[in-house]
Amino acid sequence: MYLGIDLGTSGVKAMLIGDDQTVVGSASSKEVTTTRLHDGWSEQDPADWIRATEEAIAGLRAAHPDAFSAVRGIGLSGHMHGATLLDADDKVLRPCIMWNDTRSYHEAAALDADPRFRKITGNIVFPGFTAPKLAWVKNNEPDIFAKVRWVLLPKDYLRLWLAGEHLSEMSDSAGTSWLDTGARKWSADLLAATGLDESRMPGLVEGTAPAGTLRPELAAKWGLREGIVIAGGAGDNAASACGMGTVREGTAFVSLGTSGVLFAANARYLPNPESAVHAFCHALPDTWHQMGVILSATDALNWHARVTGASAADLTKELGDTLKAPSHVTFLPYLSGERTPHNDATIRGAFLGLGHEADRTVLTQAVLEGVAFAIRDSLEALKSAGTALTRVTAIGGGSRSRYWLKSIATALGLPVDLPADGDFGAAFGAARLGLIAATGANPTDILTPPATAETIHPEAALSAAYEDAYQRYRRLYPAIRAAY
Ligand code: XUL
Repeated sequence: MYLGIDLGTSGVKAMLIGDDQTVVGSASSKEVTTTRLHDGWSEQDPADWIRATEEAIAGLRAAHPDAFSAVRGIGLSGHMHGATLLDADDKVLRPCIMWNDTRSYHEAAALDADPRFRKITGNIVFPGFTAPKLAWVKNNEPDIFAKVRWVLLPKDYLRLWLAGEHLSEMSDSAGTSWLDTGARKWSADLLAATGLDESRMPGLVEGTAPAGTLRPELAAKWGLREGIVIAGGAGDNAASACGMGTVREGTAFVSLGTSGVLFAANARYLPNPESAVHAFCHALPDTWHQMGVILSATDALNWHARVTGASAADLTKELGDTLKAPSHVTFLPYLSGERTPHNDATIRGAFLGLGHEADRTVLTQAVLEGVAFAIRDSLEALKSAGTALTRVTAIGGGSRSRYWLKSIATALGLPVDLPADGDFGAAFGAARLGLIAATGANPTDILTPPATAETIHPEAALSAAYEDAYQRYRRLYPAIRAAY
């Protein structure tokens, strides 16, 4: 048995898989609270992650006591980029500044203006990344900055609690703006540019390699044997890719979670920061990946649900399953600003083209289309970075909506595969990494794709209408930007 723990933005999910990779069961924690003290801020208390992990593990143990006691390896996954700052006693110095916190956009622009960052990391310094957050803390909370002994990514803080080790791995570390992504090591120059050095950073391993063992106290508490290996693990996107078997060149998925991600696996390091594509290390050795990231995917639908007082499920049900041509209403999903392709932390969303007929259903349709067009923007960005996709697999909560899948297939002009029933998300990918680290299995033997249950094809009859609506969508960002 192997255990995958995914620290998600809204909660922790723990999953148990057998030696043959069948899913034995999973359990989730209660919601983890995100605090938004100011526009653009997003923070969580790391103590809540531990509470949530304990909750998810308790749920899993209660449902599968025998299987749980047979766990031999653990893998970790988590939301990326968060700055978890610890003092010399490993005490958390302030709430974690999360991936979707854009307060540090001035600092990000300043670091990005130093050509070494794009050259060494292969990425724009986005405000959501870790280095500009440290620059913000240095500028705004100098007393805290002075006490920083360790800078950890969120899932690596969980590792510290689980294993007592300060360790990280390549895929998550590539999202800090301090990694030499091609060479897979910390860059002393970039750390120095933010007033840090390598001694503040965790040691690095590959995601498939062992990185700590479960502390004896926790093993005793959970009824596990001693010495259980914890894998390096991965940032949540690379972990999902491990779950989906998206590790071979040319394979790709679109993830409709809080954020939206178009992820492609690469056999080589293929940076193109100008297109705002992320070029990161993958979780297995000698492999990289590219991704376009939009900051609000299901978050946009959830916002619309909140405002209209309906549930997201009701809204998509109301729309039905038959794809319609886009109406005159366009929605820009920039509720938290945008990464790919605009790298704009201060842009905000919009509904445009409203008429008297624009009822709730028309607005829901526009929200789903707006996210589909944002993902099309990422597809274009990936193309400009040398990656041409022929199909994508859909994952994440939003992929439960047929309408959304049809809209995405038509906006991208690509077939969208739906995996056969099962849960191939980040927790599954993490469990697979746990298996590899504990057994020494060959990663490519384990990280295989699931069977495809169904393929959603672009609706040819609506392709032209979608293309027109996409071109209108593209014209709106510069217009709105200029107006503000
Ligand atoms: C990726 C990113 C998000 C988070 C959220 O760059 O910021 O996908 O990892 O989970």
